[in-house]
Amino acid sequence: MKAKEGVLDFLNKILTCELTAIHQYFLHAELCEHWGYERLEHAVRSRSIGEMRHAEALIKHILYLEGHPDMHRLEPIHIGKTVPEQFKLDLAVEVEDIALLRDAVAHCATVGDFTTRHLLEHMLKDSEAHIDWIETQLETIRQVGAEKYLSEQIHKES
Ligand SMILES: [Fe+2]
Ligand SMILES: [Fe+2]
Repeated sequence: MKAKEGVLDFLNKILTCELTAIHQYFLHAELCEHWGYERLEHAVRSRSIGEMRHAEALIKHILYLEGHPDMHRLEPIHIGKTVPEQFKLDLAVEVEDIALLRDAVAHCATVGDFTTRHLLEHMLKDSEAHIDWIETQLETIRQVGAEKYLSEQIHKES
């Protein structure tokens, strides 16, 4: 199926954002593991895998629309030296992603591509959940302090 005007450009831009998120979150998860925050490592890794699923869905959909998935582009990866720094940097990625997704959803509505809009709305929901989770962690850190918060992250949730 041929894509409506501008849709493939949006899809490839979102793909770049997802690929960047995968890399950044994956390294953040590895750092959490390295620092011994097993519980946090699990949460961050599953967020990274969630972005991988987004990338997979985008690639499939770009191919379905007879486009070329652009796997070469990546945004700069920002790695936090501390857990709170990681959260802030990941939040910035999510905020960028969500703005792009909202623009793309609006564009799909304008050109009448409801299949793509539906797919992107699903991703938008996931991104909102990611933002909510990160904001909750930052708020908890603000309330109880980083030391207390991190001491709770040593063991994985059973
Ligand atoms: Fe995503
Ligand atoms: Fe996300």
